[in-house]
Amino acid sequence: MNNFKNLRGTIDLLPDQLIKWQNVEKIIKEQLSRSSIKEIRTPILEMTELFIRGIGEGTDVVSKEMYTFLDRGERSCTLRPEGTASVARALIQNGTSSQSSQKLWYMGPMFRYERPQAGRQRQFHQLGVEFIGYESVRSDVEIIALAWDILRKLGIKDLSLEINTLGDADDRLNFQKSFLSWLKTNKNLLDLDSQKRINRNPLRILDSKNIETKKVLEDAPSLFNFLSEKSLNRYSNFKQQLETLKIPYVENYSLVRGLDYYTHTAFEITSGSLGSQATVCGGGRYDNLIKQMGGLQTPAIGFAIGMERLILLAGKEHQVGKQTDIYIINKGLKAEPLAIDLSRKLRNFDLLIELDLTGASFSKQFKKANKINSRSIIIIGDDEASKKEFIIRMFNQEIYENKEEKISFEDDTNLKNWLNNNLHLNLNS
Ligand code: HAM
Repeated sequence: MNNFKNLRGTIDLLPDQLIKWQNVEKIIKEQLSRSSIKEIRTPILEMTELFIRGIGEGTDVVSKEMYTFLDRGERSCTLRPEGTASVARALIQNGTSSQSSQKLWYMGPMFRYERPQAGRQRQFHQLGVEFIGYESVRSDVEIIALAWDILRKLGIKDLSLEINTLGDADDRLNFQKSFLSWLKTNKNLLDLDSQKRINRNPLRILDSKNIETKKVLEDAPSLFNFLSEKSLNRYSNFKQQLETLKIPYVENYSLVRGLDYYTHTAFEITSGSLGSQATVCGGGRYDNLIKQMGGLQTPAIGFAIGMERLILLAGKEHQVGKQTDIYIINKGLKAEPLAIDLSRKLRNFDLLIELDLTGASFSKQFKKANKINSRSIIIIGDDEASKKEFIIRMFNQEIYENKEEKISFEDDTNLKNWLNNNLHLNLNS
């Protein structure tokens, strides 16, 4: 028989692992809602052309990493490698990109055919935030502060914010001319990967991790020297505002990001605890993307946090699930239907109830209640069922003698009183 396995670079998230995911997601969503940021959901599958146009043909993501296939109607489709292009498309298509500014977030799976390693998968998850229609430096600072605060709120400390400016399209064009001619003269000194990028995506060479190439690049023209006065002023204003907010940053002139749409501000947040895949959050400004994709000129800025990397960084305190309030131990023909009925009533009181459905011996059911550390238990056997009552008690060996009570199935007042007194609830009798 075939033993099926998941595809390389994908993982199963099992219930115990998901406790941490859900706790982390809850904290994130609360923070987003406090900042009045609204959720948007776009399809996972899009036309391939969207990413080619949006992200850029010469990028690694588009040229090497996309999951692209023809559907049954012979249309080229791609599993989204990121969310920004899809959000831009959705806003243009729904006629809302030019409406007054909007702050949006999304969370979900993304797909990139990369070499899997710790912190890098082929299916991974991102939380993305996009501020659409915002031009001011304040929006750059606000969005970085949001990412920073989310990470801090989760208790992650070992963080470093790296920033750079990529100027506007004219700045980059001027730089590119001079950089290209330098690259051509020095081609033989570069590593093979960088040589291949000369015609495809020369800016990305600045981001090379090759030690020799990095050394050679020290003598290359710097984008910074090609920035207009306006771009320089914007950048220095941006840094000043970060300082006002006391968000520490490091300038990294080789931070160019892997996607073509960025202008002005580019940033990444890294953690020393993550190993080689250290970037937990990446983002920047993309003032021309929406126009380039057919919308009106709309300035925007955003970021995405890699959820798997975030989960690696978030501490054990997020791993704790909710404690079961009552475990219902039940056995016998008469007892079992009554137990189901009672479990529904108790869930309506907003309690976390686990109904044992095994039909196993009482002692086995006790053991299970003990194993999951239920706060209290209800016991219903056929004896109790015949008397139309059940036993309820705290699940604490020392005190249960005092706390045990027999309550009639009909007597909601007594039941609520017991729950109020023992589980510290506030149910109206
Ligand atoms: P990105 O830098 O390509 O930016 O991805 C953002 C984050 O997603 C990375 O910092 C990393 O944490 C996570 N990530 C990326 N690839 C993988 C992978 N293969 N496995 C695990 N995690 C990964 C973007 O995607 C932009 N859309 C961000 C943005 C939004 N810029 C403006 N708005």
